[in-house]
Amino acid sequence: MIQSEYDSLPEMISTTPFQIDDFAAGCLMQQVLDIGCGYGRTLDQLANSGLSPIGLDTSIVQLRRCTPMHFGKLIIAKASSLPFSDESFGGAIALGVIDSLLTTADLKAMVNECGRVLMPGSPFWLNFYTINLEDSFVSRYKSTAETSHLIHTRSGLKVRHWAPEEVEQILSDLFSVVRIDAEPFLSMSHRRYVNGIHIRAVRKG
Ligand SMILES: C[S@@+](CC[C@H](N)C(=O)[O-])C[C@H]1O[C@@H](n2cnc3c(N)ncnc32)[C@H](O)[C@@H]1O
Repeated sequence: MIQSEYDSLPEMISTTPFQIDDFAAGCLMQQVLDIGCGYGRTLDQLANSGLSPIGLDTSIVQLRRCTPMHFGKLIIAKASSLPFSDESFGGAIALGVIDSLLTTADLKAMVNECGRVLMPGSPFWLNFYTINLEDSFVSRYKSTAETSHLIHTRSGLKVRHWAPEEVEQILSDLFSVVRIDAEPFLSMSHRRYVNGIHIRAVRKG
């Protein structure tokens, strides 16, 4: 059975922004994938824009919070192993998700799977909390062999703060990165603003 740290956050409210109109305009077909859809705030936006979203998440607790219009289109699975056929989606998002991928191998696996299930030319958008150089973060960061930016959040999660360059590099085999924007995101504990990154990419091919 898949387990998720997010099962322990039954009232989690996601805070990262999403420019749905720009995303919807770039999608190549109605069927789109929301990876780590959580409780479905972005599924609602995608459906209200005329798209037909499938929501995938590791947390049954979060999926149960989704509005009934999405029932039947929700899947419990890991981003690193997508249970879909090749080129079956016209766009995908992964908002606030890669923070939970602690190893480079995990992020590479997710990117490879997204590349496989997306039609060439489809948009793939990610956002994530990135590295903070304030003392309050630096003193809490822990290191592994491949990163110096693991942190236990005030929400009780173990996450990795990725540098945009690291993510761009991993995307670059299969995706063209169109735009990288830095913006303060409200922290998941809702206590303050911290560094956030949006990446807009397009499936090559
Ligand atoms: C911060 S929430 C964001 C939810 C949603 N994307 C949003 O922006 O409203 C992160 C979600 O990603 C899910 N998640 C974390 N790691 C995942 C993985 N490897 N595969 C699929 N979902 C994952 C968590 O269970 C959680 O629901």
